[in-house]
Amino acid sequence: MKIKSEIKKIKDVKAEAVASIIFEDFAEAKLQWLNTLFKGNLDALIGTKDFKGIANEMVMTYVNSDSRAHRLVLTGAGKSKEVTLEKLRNAYAVTAKKLNTLKLKSVGFELPDLTAIKSHSNCTISDIVQAISEGVFLTQYKFNKHITNDKFVPFDEIIFFTDSPKYTKEISEVLKNSRIICDAVILARDLGNEPSNFLTPHKFAEFVKKSSAKANYSVSVFDERKIKQLNMGGIIGVSQGSDNPPAFLILQYFGSTKSEKPVVLVGKGVTFDSGGISLKPAGGMESMKMDMCGSAAVVGAFEAVSRLKLKLNLIGLIPVVENMPSGKAIKPGDVIKSYSGITIEVANTDAEGRLILADALDYAANYKPKAVIDVATLTGAAVITFGHMVAGVMGTDSTLIRKMFNAGEKTHERVWELPLYEEYEKLMKSEVADIKNIGAPRQAGTIMGGIFLKKFVSNKYPWAHLDIAGTAMVSTEITEYTPKEATGFGVRLFVEMLRNFHSN
Ligand code: BES
Ligand code: ZN
Ligand code: ZN
Repeated sequence: MKIKSEIKKIKDVKAEAVASIIFEDFAEAKLQWLNTLFKGNLDALIGTKDFKGIANEMVMTYVNSDSRAHRLVLTGAGKSKEVTLEKLRNAYAVTAKKLNTLKLKSVGFELPDLTAIKSHSNCTISDIVQAISEGVFLTQYKFNKHITNDKFVPFDEIIFFTDSPKYTKEISEVLKNSRIICDAVILARDLGNEPSNFLTPHKFAEFVKKSSAKANYSVSVFDERKIKQLNMGGIIGVSQGSDNPPAFLILQYFGSTKSEKPVVLVGKGVTFDSGGISLKPAGGMESMKMDMCGSAAVVGAFEAVSRLKLKLNLIGLIPVVENMPSGKAIKPGDVIKSYSGITIEVANTDAEGRLILADALDYAANYKPKAVIDVATLTGAAVITFGHMVAGVMGTDSTLIRKMFNAGEKTHERVWELPLYEEYEKLMKSEVADIKNIGAPRQAGTIMGGIFLKKFVSNKYPWAHLDIAGTAMVSTEITEYTPKEATGFGVRLFVEMLRNFHSN
């Protein structure tokens, strides 16, 4: 996909279609202006008064122009004073999807009046152009590698044009960066959508090794022997029922001096969660190939951060396992010892994510990190609490949680805090071990996940936990630029947060 930015009038853009995004309060004037430009081709459209510029309203019309662009798409963006980054993403996304249905290869998108939007939305020019381009880039995706002769055709060439030379430099810089970020989101979607027979823990590790070699970060992989040697009892316990051995991945990116403390991202990587001996019901179990979306978000963040060359040090810790029932599998009531030495009664083998994260969170302390954020499809209760719109965040550090919140508002990968009050801890008391892996049935399931993890963090570093069980995989398109199935949630959030880590 080729991305260009051009200073041109809409009639001079050389593409198979051109699109203009129009605000409601300027709709009449804008149509008149376009009509003059296209020598009266819009007379009929204007006569009908059909197009009003309401958000995501769209018409396509045909014009005679000297270029190849005979198709003109007009999309509404609502009232200009109420514009937000999210409204822009959606307006450009609906437009892009419409043009995809025509299987066009080369398309032009007009950039709106950036100065006006800046003053109405309180956002920077970069934020605005990034949101617009995300709307286009993130729609150019379909997970079709296992479909024979799929009909989806993404664009070959995307031209963002404006007739004002005012922000030329910013625009081309932002487009380059936005492309990097959106490619990383798409990589995370691909991982989340990949069936577990194609993405075993070993294949996950191989994929990340290959991918890192093309970007600018390194990966080392601990195999089963090494994991056993390190006494990572959570990872061993969960993976022992599977024929596919576990892996523990360490991703490293140094964008700052070696002496600067890193931020650590920890991702849950369960390539398939059958529940183990506490087997899940058959209905819907197929979706549990997505139980590695936390780790996919971490890999996506590394891809973007390293290509953007952000000035910080970043460590990624990814335990990867398959949770299966078998004669060798861990059983309810078994006791395991985690990497930290803390013993855990495994009261339910389906609460496996927290067991592997416990090892990784304790391992994170070795880096003396300035912050640790784990991301996991941890609890079904997160879907009950937030639906598919918002991820749960909890932790020990209000500054870190605020940074996540701010990044969430900006990217529309929104997070909302849940409390980790001490009183919840007694619900996880075990009669036979230091802690058990579940709380009371049907009570505060998402919080209990956080309470369990907190035990392994034990104030060694500022920590936040992100439960993306609801947002990582969706069965309906929740925004115009989010496809069904894996969403890649977390990548844009992490990149935005890490970009501004020191200034926010
Ligand atoms: N992977 C699941 C959580 C999940 C559910 C993710 C739905 C995405 C969509 C997790 O391992 C799990 O099974 N959690 C249990 C915990 C319970 C046994 C305490 C759950 O939520 O039921
Ligand atoms: Zn589970
Ligand atoms: Zn799980």
